[in-house]
Amino acid sequence: QSNIYQEEHRPQFHYSPQKNWMNDPNGMVYFDGEYHLFYQHDNYENVFGNMSWGHAISRDLIHWQEQPKAIVPDSDSLGMIFSGSAVVDKNNSAGFGANSLVAFYTSTSPKQQQSMAYSTDKGRTWTKYKENPVIKNEVGDQIPDDFRDPKVMWHKESQKWIMSLAVKDHVEFWSSKNLKEWTKESEFGQAIGSHDGVWECPDLFELPVDGNTNNKRWILLVSMNPGGPNGGSATQYFIGNFDGKYFTILQTGIRWVDYGTDNYAGVTYSNMENRAIAIGWMSNWQYAGKVPTQPWRGAYTFPRKLSLKTVDNIIFLTSAPVKELDKIVTNTRSMQNVDVKGSYDLPADIKSFKGKLLFQLASEQIEEYSIVLSNDRGEEVVVGFDKQANQYYIDRTKAGKTDFEKGFGKRHIAPRLTKDNHTDVTLLFDAASVELFADNGLTIMTDIFFVNKTLSKISIKSANGLNIKELNYSGIERIWK
Ligand code: FRU
Repeated sequence: QSNIYQEEHRPQFHYSPQKNWMNDPNGMVYFDGEYHLFYQHDNYENVFGNMSWGHAISRDLIHWQEQPKAIVPDSDSLGMIFSGSAVVDKNNSAGFGANSLVAFYTSTSPKQQQSMAYSTDKGRTWTKYKENPVIKNEVGDQIPDDFRDPKVMWHKESQKWIMSLAVKDHVEFWSSKNLKEWTKESEFGQAIGSHDGVWECPDLFELPVDGNTNNKRWILLVSMNPGGPNGGSATQYFIGNFDGKYFTILQTGIRWVDYGTDNYAGVTYSNMENRAIAIGWMSNWQYAGKVPTQPWRGAYTFPRKLSLKTVDNIIFLTSAPVKELDKIVTNTRSMQNVDVKGSYDLPADIKSFKGKLLFQLASEQIEEYSIVLSNDRGEEVVVGFDKQANQYYIDRTKAGKTDFEKGFGKRHIAPRLTKDNHTDVTLLFDAASVELFADNGLTIMTDIFFVNKTLSKISIKSANGLNIKELNYSGIERIWK
């Protein structure tokens, strides 16, 4: 084990597989003290193809143990194992046994259709249901083959299982009593939201608004490729009601879960009582196959807690790193009332964190600033706020290797969504990624990058002058033992 997870650009506190290509997270389910993470994984190569479900288990959402492959293509001749979800069948509605884990995925041959597999040994081994597919593709040959990514949840109010499915330019909701026989209930989205790409990986779940459990709303996540706000693939969301049959929206406008280029196909954990925890694929279909890493390609975002927050009568989805992060945060340094005029360098001890760090600032002033993470080769990742444009940005133009893809070395932007005079920013830096959580998680950006040497210096810049009321930075421990 000693030299794996030590390669150049290898994430140190984000999940990535030991080897080969990985894209979407799949089948995320919490059961018996374990967080299961399945994922789109190429069995043999470091490029997309031969898709199966890889598997990792964690007891704390932080430290992961890679497992043997969970579901692989085989003699059933239904093709590859595309994205999907998993549930705990507490009451044995499918008949595989009480508390069996039941997974749904898309089979790809001869067309995309929905299949099922189950496990009665806490997710260690999986058996494909012999009557697969459970939902056939009957849309006909003239319709493109986009019928995939089943995300199943238990809908208490109607006492039914509900499956959300991505069908080219809309989401379909199907229902079932026994997880085997499914009835189509409704369609959503043909004329709503962004349609600059194909819709994929839907997820439907409910959350309290502003923490008030008497006032809940349903959230529908829809990933889309291409057409993201900064190019390539990205995930939009809708807020509304769901009655067991129809999803109806309560507010219009296009909203993005994450404005960065590198958070895709993210969905939430199943069987979590009080938290909605999402994990996304930290890459983009625009260049995922070209990123300069080996023997693996692909990593996941840090797990995020999702919430709903009202700002000026609009409900927004917010994200924050899960609180388990505290377990690996070390050597926190705090400063108060730091006046940045021109440029301010953080103390050199930042070097000892080896590019894995948590950085937070809070101010009672809205002013332009940038946070520059750099090395002595002139490589840098710049995160900042542009007051004039009222936008946050991440600039990876000079962040090491960029020429593997023409559109990679760019500056990405995101709107500031509140007019509040208080502002705060939390940044997570790992070897090859930065995650920005601004204004208490209202504006999110995730970007990957490939520097040739560890970023070991941080400077904060503000030409006009910024008073930082509270400034914290910490190291983060590597999760691989
Ligand atoms: C999203 C996606 C899914 C599909 C999977 C295939 O990134 O295109 O729609 O199931 O990847 O790996």
